[in-house]
Amino acid sequence: MLMSAQTFFITTAIDYTNAPPHIGHAYEKVLADVIARWHRERGRPVFFLTGVDQHGQKVQQSAEKAGVPPAQFAREITEKFKALWEKLGVAYDGWAETTDPRHIAAVQAVLQQLHDQGDLYKARHSGHYSVRQEQFLTDKERNAQGEFGPEWGEVVFIEEENWYFRLAKYRPWLAGHLAEHPDFVFPSFRGNELANAVAKEAGDLCISRPKSRLGWGIELPFDRDYVTYVWFDALMNYATFAGFRAQDGTGLPDFKELWPCDAHVIGKDILVPAHGIYWPIMLKAAGFEVMPKLLVHGWWNLGGTKVSKSSGNVVDPDALADRYGAEALRYYLMRDIATGQDADFNEERLKARYNADLANDLGNLVNRTVSMARRYRSGTLAAGPVDKSADALAIEVLGSEAARRFDAALGAYQIHSALEAVWELIAAANGFVESSAPWKLAKDPDRVARLDEVLVTLVEAARLAAVLVHPVIPQASDELLAQLGCSGNFTPVWGVVAAGHTVGEPRPVFPRLEPEAAA
Ligand code: MSP
Repeated sequence: MLMSAQTFFITTAIDYTNAPPHIGHAYEKVLADVIARWHRERGRPVFFLTGVDQHGQKVQQSAEKAGVPPAQFAREITEKFKALWEKLGVAYDGWAETTDPRHIAAVQAVLQQLHDQGDLYKARHSGHYSVRQEQFLTDKERNAQGEFGPEWGEVVFIEEENWYFRLAKYRPWLAGHLAEHPDFVFPSFRGNELANAVAKEAGDLCISRPKSRLGWGIELPFDRDYVTYVWFDALMNYATFAGFRAQDGTGLPDFKELWPCDAHVIGKDILVPAHGIYWPIMLKAAGFEVMPKLLVHGWWNLGGTKVSKSSGNVVDPDALADRYGAEALRYYLMRDIATGQDADFNEERLKARYNADLANDLGNLVNRTVSMARRYRSGTLAAGPVDKSADALAIEVLGSEAARRFDAALGAYQIHSALEAVWELIAAANGFVESSAPWKLAKDPDRVARLDEVLVTLVEAARLAAVLVHPVIPQASDELLAQLGCSGNFTPVWGVVAAGHTVGEPRPVFPRLEPEAAA
């Protein structure tokens, strides 16, 4: 049995290259990136894999509409995704593209194995087929009026011979696996949804498409007239780009160092059936005993309805990053949603959070702290009183508590509550500036030790806040730490700054959005 080494292996759903990225894609990548960065900063090795899903009917159709070959179309959209991840600071270790020959070879090897062990069979089927969802429909999918609703897009009646995967044979195993591994799906209410679906789901899975109607896919190695169903191909990326069945010298990681995956980060729409049913059964059939874990996030909606290209309400993350900065967008996407739940995207909220949280609270704390240290101590801190005052001690206790809460919340994927803990510290530190009034202390020669205590406490509070937010806003955090004279020190607990510490130069990192720029 393969055991995971200490490397935290995190992946995201790979994005379809049938259309450019939207805000939902950006959210998912930033979420995974924040988790990956947090592990790295706490000294745990991480392998973060993401990429694009380039095959399938959707891509073929979009390419036809654009009048270019599917390979060219997929390439162009792939470049857009890559450029966006770079702009948003998504620091992945592995990049998956399903047209990669290394992936194709490994997928074909698994198909051949399943074929040879009798898990695939060929049968003739006629029925209604949804072009949009790339699947055959049954009466279950009809609505109250007995029709296939608009969510299925164009539905055509087809009769054809195809290859089927014996999903039904493995269903009892999957039901048992879910019962024995309640941590297979996070959050647990999604696990319950999956268990209910497994109890209902019946039948085998059609895993082929005749080349006569879909040429854009991976050829079945044992029947060259067919390509494999896009999900069979796409799901395998999590293993193939982690080095599963890789030839030597291909530059892919050592699979046994990585598997099983600690978190496949996916949206709620692709849990059932793809990741919750097909994927574990594919792995089981291929001989895997240890299964990965799924981290299922909710959706960003717009005005209460889902963001989708067909409804024309796509929010462009690239334009938002240009307008407000990539870091402000990352912060908003992590702060205004609870992982697992849905949220409504609202540009006004983004602006409000920028001005309140980033400019007024965090930015201002660092700016005034550094300015005061320079004004009253020429930038170099001195020792405070021997016994700490109660109010300074209260900030220290809050800081230690914030650091503990931050790590606990992040470990439970609750980034928004991790950030809440930091902002409580920031608010308390800003309150401490007001209540201790260093500008008054500076005028009173008897209060020198008290002023030193206040300054050391504020620099340490600001440092700890900047360190904790690093996974979410890495560039801004680096800049803030440099101003505080703490570059490169990511110690995530209270107590680094001491007498003799020298701060850097203050410079606004999050200048307030002016009303006209915000309009
Ligand atoms: N190609 C498949 C995934 C294959 S994984 C083996 C796919 N691609 S997708 O481009 O449609 O979606 C990629 C990811 O973005 C999915 O996890 C999906 O849930 C997520 N999101 C798409 N729209 C979203 C929102 N509006 N909000 C949050 N995430 C959403 O599915």
